[in-house]
Amino acid sequence: MSLLFIAPNRDTEVWKKALLEKDSNLDIEIWPKVENKERVTFAVCWNHPKNVLGNYPNLQAVSSLGAGVNHLLTDVALPEKVRLSRVVTPSLKNQLAEYLLNSVLNYRNHIPRYVDQKREGYWAPHAAIPKNECTIGIMGLGEMGTASAQLLTLNGYNVVGWSKSKKEIAGITCYSKSERDDFLAQTNILICLLPLTEKTEGILDLELFKKLKKPAYIINAGRGEHLIEEDLIYGIDTNALEGACLDVFEEEPLPSNHLFWNRPKIMITPHIAAITDPVEGAEVILENYKRSLSGMALINEVIREEGY
Ligand code: GLV
Repeated sequence: MSLLFIAPNRDTEVWKKALLEKDSNLDIEIWPKVENKERVTFAVCWNHPKNVLGNYPNLQAVSSLGAGVNHLLTDVALPEKVRLSRVVTPSLKNQLAEYLLNSVLNYRNHIPRYVDQKREGYWAPHAAIPKNECTIGIMGLGEMGTASAQLLTLNGYNVVGWSKSKKEIAGITCYSKSERDDFLAQTNILICLLPLTEKTEGILDLELFKKLKKPAYIINAGRGEHLIEEDLIYGIDTNALEGACLDVFEEEPLPSNHLFWNRPKIMITPHIAAITDPVEGAEVILENYKRSLSGMALINEVIREEGY
């Protein structure tokens, strides 16, 4: 039996070392040089090519290297019977929460404007946006969303949340699926952390932007496909939105001629909001590898019909 890594743009040697430190007997294969396809029962994937997962006849389970699994759910080469899991570690939650707090502070304190002003040698102070004009609305209140909501609340922000099934989280007003417009009417800074499913694709559109409380700002750390890109540009150009901070894009890397690059009000980060730490991640992956061999339920097992 072996465990296969297919993560072309991650340092797979570091992951291999982290896994072997926990269990030196593990047989680990790193794609594309796979010596024995028949022995592979468990795969770990991130940005994997679409046509490879059908080539392992004894594959029982696949883990995403991160929290998102849309790359696995949309892979038609992956047999239906293969079980799926995600990795959500404490540091992944902390990184995301800190990224979001930082994005909120950058927006409130006009940091992107000051970066531009410095380039021009131009001195002009701007009043920080008051906290009472910064109610934060989080779409998606899973483990990642809840940790982020808690950090933002601790920093004195009014936080509201929206999720498919209504949650109860201390200090946060939670709205259910059918209460979306009430949630949006409370929200100045909208954070999208939703899983990408047929129902959530394109959810961040002009119609939604118009329902937000003014001044309104968007942070997308979900998936690029949640956002209708041209609607965002239109929303910013017509002042329906003050700006946006985006970590994820329909096409990654973001093409060099993309309109987002020359919009000063759009902050761009290259999908770095939360990156799984190999030492922490190896623990979950190893545990799930062992569970898959014994037929036990996996940690953070994905329900395919739900999409997460
Ligand atoms: C990051 O995008 C993740 O899914 O963990």
